[in-house]
Amino acid sequence: MDHFLYRDGVLHAEDVPVPEIAAAVGTPFYVYSTATLLRHFRLFDEALEGTDHLVCYAMKAASNQAILKTLAQAGAGMDVVSGGEYLRAKAAGVPGDRIVFSGVGKTAAEIRLALEGGIRQFNVESEPEMEVLNATALSMGVIAPITIRVNPDVDAKTHAKIATGKSENKFGIPISRALDVYAMAAGLPGLDVIGIDVHIGSQLTELEPYELAYQKVAELTEMLRAEGHDIRRLDLGGGLGIPYARDNQAPPLPSEYGALVKRTLGHLDCEIEIEPGRLIAGNAGLMVSEVIYVKSGEDRDFLIIDGAMNDLIRPAMYDAYHDIVPVVEPDAGIEQAKYDIVGPVCESGDTFAKARVMPPVASGELVAFRSAGAYGAVMSSEYNSRPLIPEVLVHEDQFEVIRARPTFDEMINRDTIPSWL
Ligand code: LLP
Repeated sequence: MDHFLYRDGVLHAEDVPVPEIAAAVGTPFYVYSTATLLRHFRLFDEALEGTDHLVCYAMKAASNQAILKTLAQAGAGMDVVSGGEYLRAKAAGVPGDRIVFSGVGKTAAEIRLALEGGIRQFNVESEPEMEVLNATALSMGVIAPITIRVNPDVDAKTHAKIATGKSENKFGIPISRALDVYAMAAGLPGLDVIGIDVHIGSQLTELEPYELAYQKVAELTEMLRAEGHDIRRLDLGGGLGIPYARDNQAPPLPSEYGALVKRTLGHLDCEIEIEPGRLIAGNAGLMVSEVIYVKSGEDRDFLIIDGAMNDLIRPAMYDAYHDIVPVVEPDAGIEQAKYDIVGPVCESGDTFAKARVMPPVASGELVAFRSAGAYGAVMSSEYNSRPLIPEVLVHEDQFEVIRARPTFDEMINRDTIPSWL
């Protein structure tokens, strides 16, 4: 459920008509709903009720300071994957003891940054990383809390580019080597080994892969405890999918996921951490764009809009489906049209949808991409020298720009001319 509904035929973000935002900030833009962000965070929090837990929002999904602050004030922790994300989380007021640091390639500088600023734990992904972390902690006279990310070799049944839990993926250490790697970690004085981490992929639409992975984590917990490791925290990653198309079967709910977590891992009496990103931010955001032209091709009509692949890369990158709807509902009974919906960027990959059936729209009218809140703005670029599009946050009947569109001068002046020119 989200808070983008039609009222009197006009799409609203909470209590704000979307055309009002378009008039104020220009198109294209991203708009997020505070109520949806909070609702989704709370669904996870409630799903784990009765366990000692922390929901660490995977901020890679949407990392604007205003979004982070909204979630942090509701009690969320953050899952970060770079020094930049760590500093962004801190800048939004998230205390270090609510930040977990994931990722396969943390540098010594990033590790130092987090140890200096405070960290809940590092999710370590390899032996060489463990050694760098140990040496860095010792050189600073501190002890780094860690979990070790294991790769359970489970098929997450999602798009290949976002599956992470198979043995051919770069993530985690093979679960078959876990006992040796934990033994090695226990011998490193700069590390405090507190738990296990697992994350098998993103946009999962079934619970079965989680079940397989979490059963393996439960077995591993018991084996490690038997060897004397004090396993007391399980970080279970993120990945629960969202319904992108309104007619498809909805993925499992956070409550069903929470029940699975309790069923497979509850008996271990560990603190539970989860790292959802998409399910919190995805349906909390729209990308709104204006139709520039409707162009007749040989055998189809093209809807040429002012948003492009540089603003929302998911369709080009993962063949992702986004629902695209007119912001002003057409009159009842009007015949549907069929379009290839494309942006102005100079490549054919700049296609959002092919043969999409939707109500007819005309030049100058607005369309909204649903489910664009996660992996939208954060993955955008200035390709074709198109300035990054603004982000807007709505709260009930208020809206504010939370990242402004840069001017052309700001964009151009970021480059510097070398002395010989
Ligand atoms: N934890 C870790 C360690 C992750 O790598 C990820 C996502 C998450 C949590 C959050 O997963 P989520 O709950 O959002 O599924 N750009 C792609 C998605 C990449 C996901 C990367 N890792 C897309 O647009 O579909």
